[in-house]
Amino acid sequence: MGWKEFGRVKISVVGTGYLGATHAACMARLGHDVLGVDVDEAKVSKLRSGEMPFYEPGLEELTREMIGAGKLQFSSSFAEAAEFADVHFIAVGTPQRRGEFAADTSALDSVIASLAPVITRPSVILGKSTVPVGTAADLRSRAQSLSPAGDQLELGWNPEFLREGHAIKDTLEPDRLVLGVADGADPRVEAAAREVYGDLLERGVPFLVTDLATAELTKISANAFLATKISFINAIAEVCDAAGADVVTLADAMGYDTRIGRAFLNAGLGFGGGCLPKDIRAFMARAGELGAAQALTFLREVDNINMRRRTQMVEMAKQSCGTLLGSRVAVLGAAFKPNSDDVRDSPALNVAGQLQLRGAAVSVYDPKAMENSRMLFPTLGYSASVLDACENADVVLVLTEWDEFRNLDPDSLAGVVRQRQIIDGRNCLDPATWTDAGWKYRGFGRAASR
Ligand code: UDX
Repeated sequence: MGWKEFGRVKISVVGTGYLGATHAACMARLGHDVLGVDVDEAKVSKLRSGEMPFYEPGLEELTREMIGAGKLQFSSSFAEAAEFADVHFIAVGTPQRRGEFAADTSALDSVIASLAPVITRPSVILGKSTVPVGTAADLRSRAQSLSPAGDQLELGWNPEFLREGHAIKDTLEPDRLVLGVADGADPRVEAAAREVYGDLLERGVPFLVTDLATAELTKISANAFLATKISFINAIAEVCDAAGADVVTLADAMGYDTRIGRAFLNAGLGFGGGCLPKDIRAFMARAGELGAAQALTFLREVDNINMRRRTQMVEMAKQSCGTLLGSRVAVLGAAFKPNSDDVRDSPALNVAGQLQLRGAAVSVYDPKAMENSRMLFPTLGYSASVLDACENADVVLVLTEWDEFRNLDPDSLAGVVRQRQIIDGRNCLDPATWTDAGWKYRGFGRAASR
């Protein structure tokens, strides 16, 4: 079967988390016929009615529109997926293993075990999940041996680089597309990818075809680089604090150098979420297995610098209150970053938890992540608004840079707090605005602005 036969590709997307649900809706937006597949029945029935199990700007609207247009459906049946689609994307999670640095790839294994045996005609599987290098080659041979289609079932790796909060734009206007294909693989893998992404390729999106290992490594290296950039500026922020300099101005000045760039040089509470922290650890673990551990020892320091931000924030709060025991701390922000309700490894929630363990009365408010936070940390105090959270606070901590917090009015907040002290964990406030309004302002690496 020639792939050119279908301008509209019939696609399944297995896994409907942040990555898969976005990919499914966006592939439908590109004109394809898409079936989203998940083993979680409850999730599938929510999605069928156009309800998102998580918050991502614009995704619920796009999903509803695509369902309405008859381009997007959901199912929990692998047999249905195999019958429906010619191209299967796999977008399941690869979290950190409990008690280890390595990635847990069991969800991928079980997708292959369920999907490959029911694929009976020539088809292509494209993996999107972030995986330890070598995983794709293993999955490919397993899929081919399990499927009645044998080597007519091909598997390539097409890593995803989307950011939460910008997921639709990142999928429909990616910086690049990467496709890993096995040595001697059937050319249908590349042909299928070209068909699926035809629109994007026409618009000039760079398309790099590599071997499987390079594709897998590209993704994890990109995340390791981003994590390194953040920890670099956070390390410099520590020096700025010691030297009485301002890291925000420094980052602006550094960022004008096009070799460096300003993106990902925001010093603050550091990185969290479902990707960067676990990816650098999985990368170290995999390099160790390959005998290249030494090459990545610097990532241990990247991780250390990042985790130190959280304890440093707790220390700063303690200094502001005198003692944490019995003090009231307002925590503004719980999501790991703005425009998301994701609290996986959230620096903000981690700090809130540490403060409570040290005896502070903590009150957390986040515009979108309240429900997820309550599930993860049911014992923390939660408030329905910024003003409620700040009631009688001895110190206010801004830990996620939501616009709602960037635009706070120091005068209206002054009316409810016990002490006018604010710590800007994301360097997202204007120090002068707050100090002029009689507040004691502290940021990360902003000694010069105190
Ligand atoms: C990341 C990668 O950016 C994306 O390409 C990949 O596909 C998945 O992992 P994501 O986890 O959605 O995406 O978030 P990202 O925007 O990268 O932010 C990660 C963390 O770094 C957040 O906690 C954010 O607050 C923090 N961050 C980011 C900083 O502390 N400083 C910065 O300058 C940028």
